[in-house]
Amino acid sequence: MLYFDYCATTPIDNRVLSLMIELGERVFGNPSSVHQFGQEARGTIDKARRQLSNAINCQPKEIIFTSGGTEANNIVLWNVLHEKKKHVILSAIEHPSISKTISLLANWGIEYTIIPVDSFGIVNPDSVRKAIRNDTGLVTVMFVNNETGTIEPIREISQLCLEREIYFHSDGVQALGKIPVDVRSLNVTSMSFSAHKLYGPKGVGALYLCEGTRLNPLVIGGSQEGNFRAGTENVPGIAGFGLAAELAIAILKTEKDRLRKLEQHFLECLTENIPNLTINGHQEHRVPGVINITFPDVPGDDLLMNLDLNGIAVSSGSACSSGTLKPSEVLKAMGISDRLNRRTIRISFGRYTRKSDVHVLAEAVVKYIQQLKKVNALSETHA
Ligand SMILES: Cc1ncc(COP(=O)(O)O)c(C=O)c1O
Repeated sequence: MLYFDYCATTPIDNRVLSLMIELGERVFGNPSSVHQFGQEARGTIDKARRQLSNAINCQPKEIIFTSGGTEANNIVLWNVLHEKKKHVILSAIEHPSISKTISLLANWGIEYTIIPVDSFGIVNPDSVRKAIRNDTGLVTVMFVNNETGTIEPIREISQLCLEREIYFHSDGVQALGKIPVDVRSLNVTSMSFSAHKLYGPKGVGALYLCEGTRLNPLVIGGSQEGNFRAGTENVPGIAGFGLAAELAIAILKTEKDRLRKLEQHFLECLTENIPNLTINGHQEHRVPGVINITFPDVPGDDLLMNLDLNGIAVSSGSACSSGTLKPSEVLKAMGISDRLNRRTIRISFGRYTRKSDVHVLAEAVVKYIQQLKKVNALSETHA
């Protein structure tokens, strides 16, 4: 089986898994308990907090561990209800944990403006500037898009917000481990992360929250996570996240270069045989190893299914919408027609992808596209 869906999730790193198993057995105390069992668990969380804060360049106390990227995004968005300024600005390509939440918040009087993207999927900071109102309380634009890998100009957007004292949140789930993430120089108010996108466990995430920012908890109860997120902590999961972040940062540069080369190699193999394909997203402002491709001659789902039957996993559009036939909202926002939208797949490489795997994938894609083209041509002549 070959896996090319690293944007949906990554396999857990063996070193992370070993640590989690070891801690799961040995460190079972409640981190809030004062005795030694509790203190060992507390120390384990503190270490992970330091590891993650080193990875994103912030203070350990600016990290709030959560159940994942979705919860980290939700904490920030639901807070708008507590604020006087009830207008939110978001981009047209946000993950559903942002876009759906904001459209739901409209039921409670939140108003919002959606900023369009250009054909490369990039938000123009000037459009954000123009959309800012006197009652804008929050701007949220993701760092890296999960379908195309496009990197958004969040430093420019955060600058705009800083000058106007507006809260700026960014979904950094697809950025951490793929490109450098320095929250301090990015000047964001908050940023969300998820462990399972960087070879850590599922069900663990974090919110970076700039020191001094007011925020009400979404999950209410005990005083864990500096009163920002109640509930007994998932100690092995959090420790796994800390280690996963440290490991990812240690090899970031070499992995970036390696994945870029793999991607180039793959595209060379493909374009030789399928000249009419298009790559969606920005050519330069894109994380390496995420390739969103339209093959105009064949439905993406047919291709996906054929590959899957032969042990090769890719994704159609975003992972959350795979399995449904709905065209991708992200590609729609980029001006891609519904027809071409349905003829698009997402391939994402990662730490365990080898050059020989990429060869097998390229050969399989070329083979199935040629087969499917013939089948489609036949069914059109018989129609
Ligand atoms: C950009 C982005 N944000 C948020 C999430 C949600 O993260 P989690 O799965 O940890 O809830 C995902 C996961 O697919 C994502 O890609």
